Amino acid sequence: MVELGVNIDHVATLRQARLGIEPEPLQAAFIAEQNGADQITIHLREDRRHIQDRDLKLLRNTVQTKLNLEMAATPEMLEIACSVKPDTVTLVPEKREELTTEGGLLLVEEHRNYIEQIKKSGIEVSVFIEPDLEMINFAAEIGANAVEIHTGRYANLKDINAINKEVARIQEAARLIKQNKMRVVAGHGLNYHNIFRLVELQICEEFNIGHSIISRAVFTGLAEAVHTMKQLINR
Ligand code: PXP
Repeated sequence: MVELGVNIDHVATLRQARLGIEPEPLQAAFIAEQNGADQITIHLREDRRHIQDRDLKLLRNTVQTKLNLEMAATPEMLEIACSVKPDTVTLVPEKREELTTEGGLLLVEEHRNYIEQIKKSGIEVSVFIEPDLEMINFAAEIGANAVEIHTGRYANLKDINAINKEVARIQEAARLIKQNKMRVVAGHGLNYHNIFRLVELQICEEFNIGHSIISRAVFTGLAEAVHTMKQLINR
């Protein structure tokens, strides 16, 4: 079965718009899990613009599937991850001025130590990178357990030839990830329309999806939005 990670950052974004207590991300996590989510994904950003430290701690104690913490490779985040112990840490790039995570992480030698320390705490480490073959080999070399392929470029393309080319690039990247014995994950910008081409490849083991699920939930409810996406990725 292909696994669905539901990113609930946007629920926290709505709450933070009023700095109040609703909507509650925990409630979103419960509903997502009840409707087929295999994982709850959150990004604790340095500027705490959406998910808060309290959300991470409460979710750690209540999520019954898996908790995936997206974070920048910084000493502060390393300490938090090793103390809260999510099931997976996904290392992502982070810029204060960006609206969302733009582009994949440029892995460098310094990340080896971060990966080693996080793994020592019993946490799986995934790295969010572009479908770049050299970077994938380097991810394996420095000990990553999984690679999440950044699908943002694919999601933004309109021209069919360009889309075909990008899908082929993702396929080649996914094969190399598998060859290197890492888990194949994909995410960013995926929705109820563009997911098909990636599902067709039958190579991704997990998708992490946030914006499109929460957007659909505004009109259909979160239960339907999660349930439908879970069905689509397992067609
Ligand atoms: N995966 C990673 C690593 C991300 O940073 C994000 C965005 O927070 C997502 C998946 C989900 O992207 P989207 O909200 O566009 O579905």
